[in-house]
Amino acid sequence: MSKLFTPIQIRDLTVKNRLWVSPMCMYSCENQDGVVGDFHLVHLGARALGGAGLVMAEASGVNAEGRITPWCPGIWSDEQAKAWLAVNNFIHEQGAATAIQLAHAGRKASTYRMQSGSGSIPLDQGGWQTYSATNEAFTGYAAPRMLDTSEIPGLVQDFVLSAKKAVDAGFDALEIHAAHGYLLHQFLSPLSNQRQDQYGGSLENRGRFLLEIVEQVRSAIGAGIPLMVRFSATDYVEGGWDQQQTNQVARWASELGADLFDISSGGIVAGVKIPIGPGYQVNLAESVGVSTGSDVAAVGQITNALQAEEILQRGDVDVIMVGREFLRDPFMGLRAAHELGEEISWPVQYERGRWPNA
Ligand SMILES: Cc1cc2nc3c(=O)[nH]c(=O)nc-3n(C[C@H](O)[C@H](O)[C@H](O)COP(=O)(O)O)c2cc1C
Repeated sequence: MSKLFTPIQIRDLTVKNRLWVSPMCMYSCENQDGVVGDFHLVHLGARALGGAGLVMAEASGVNAEGRITPWCPGIWSDEQAKAWLAVNNFIHEQGAATAIQLAHAGRKASTYRMQSGSGSIPLDQGGWQTYSATNEAFTGYAAPRMLDTSEIPGLVQDFVLSAKKAVDAGFDALEIHAAHGYLLHQFLSPLSNQRQDQYGGSLENRGRFLLEIVEQVRSAIGAGIPLMVRFSATDYVEGGWDQQQTNQVARWASELGADLFDISSGGIVAGVKIPIGPGYQVNLAESVGVSTGSDVAAVGQITNALQAEEILQRGDVDVIMVGREFLRDPFMGLRAAHELGEEISWPVQYERGRWPNA
């Protein structure tokens, strides 16, 4: 049997395979209220029909100012949770698991979506004042204000309350977004954290915000629900956030109840040179896996079953996350099984498509 189609158990959750949909922003909450609707049901539901083991919903704001754009989903209100429940029910009916990425964009919030422009939305046009670990802007964006120390416990609470709502909304697992230059990464990276308080300076201090969230979310959701963290393992800048710091903070996070590390890269500094190519972030994930002994997911230009299987066979990666190939082909899961010679069950409605010559 292939590794890709070997189930994985994390805490109380068993996922039928290791080919998971990576979180992808869709900017499609048209009422700008963070409530998902038909688009998300069809978009995420299609990938569950298409054989993904777990479908992860995109970066979803833990509060209104945490959204990247006004069109991003949220998970801070009961109305949002109820809308997610309908999506989750459908995905579960297809035999797949669900997760949501709990996110706060910090100084990269309040931007236009692709269709409507680029950069920050001015305050008088529906944008909002962003905040961060610094008052320095991300290139091309409006400047944030530096958070006061007294505001941080409230933000930790926003993650905790969102985590609880996510569980009530039927998500099987949660992922904390600490990558791609968003708020938690802004605290982690020495390039964007200029704080003098207990949340700035040493690695322990820069990691504190994330680690408080991990600890308090774990205690709020109980022992059964898997908790993942997405890191950017490197800023690709000398003196920035790097693999060694990632590995250390991941080890601390693991001690506090994080189960799986989903390893990406970049996002804190614009225009850095990223060595993009097939599987370009796999070695970063392997390093975290070896260093923590925890489960890790690899992501980034993994586009076919044989490549995914080879990465798992190497032994240090436990899960494959796929983004854009799942946009190109929602049925990548069914196709991957076929390519690996696996007899998996298809949606019963689609059975007649399975054997073209039958
Ligand atoms: C349209 C789009 C939206 C994305 N949104 C998110 C997101 O919400 N959260 C996140 O962590 N990564 C996001 N990403 C990054 C993907 O999850 C993934 O890490 C990246 O695309 C590399 O994997 P791939 O080569 O398989 O696409 C997004 C990528 C795309 C293409």
